[in-house]
Amino acid sequence: MIYGAMLAGGSGTRVKSSKIPKQFIEIGGKPIIIYTLENMLKVKRFDYIYIAVHKDYENYMNEQVKKNIPESEKVRIILGGKERMDTINNVTTAITNDNGIHDDDVIVIHDAVRPFVTEKILNDSIDCAAEYGACVCGLPCADTILHSKGGEYVEDIPVRSELYSGQAPDSFRLAHFIQMQDNLTEEQKKVITGTSQICTMNNQPIHLIEGDAINFKITTDSDLLIVRTLLGGK
Ligand code: CTP
Repeated sequence: MIYGAMLAGGSGTRVKSSKIPKQFIEIGGKPIIIYTLENMLKVKRFDYIYIAVHKDYENYMNEQVKKNIPESEKVRIILGGKERMDTINNVTTAITNDNGIHDDDVIVIHDAVRPFVTEKILNDSIDCAAEYGACVCGLPCADTILHSKGGEYVEDIPVRSELYSGQAPDSFRLAHFIQMQDNLTEEQKKVITGTSQICTMNNQPIHLIEGDAINFKITTDSDLLIVRTLLGGK
């Protein structure tokens, strides 16, 4: 089976203009998360897409899926957790409780707040995870990266051609992923900033596929402005 895991349990504190989490901001009559879900569902290979939300948004999410998504039988709505890693853990637990684990299962972990994910990225990510076990999506860095511990002086300028910005989705063979998750210490769980770090922390290889600038994450109000513009200024 091929599973999508859409993470939507965050509160979006860095989008200052909104009182509600950024994934639920409505543009053109539907919330951003529905645009993300519609793009994921263009890939017919997904058997199920698990969406993890805060409990305050569970009913709303169910209503929005019913209203906007014809293939709603593929969608499962569950509760997210306190940190992003807890949300991922809730998804893998729900999948294994519902369906067990099979050798060829793949999980594609995506952010609800990357609405413009492409079919190419999703398909490449699934294929790469099925072949190699673990796959991260990265965009070659366009800017020169400055390394500064205190923010006052630059200590180091790493070679740009070797640097990539990590994007979601991250995809894995499910059994491999669950084993790596189980190996993490509480300390490691606290410092993780991206799903692919689960591999580096386990000394396991992770393959890289090319991302796309359009697959950006809505983090701040500026990103939200770009999304509104791309969606026709709605
Ligand atoms: N996420 C989640 N569960 C959490 C925290 C984050 O499912 N406990 C999800 C977010 O909903 C988002 C994705 O992980 O789709 C990327 O995280 P980020 O951009 O950091 O979202 P927030 O945590 O919501 O934002 P902020 O840090 O500004 O509060």
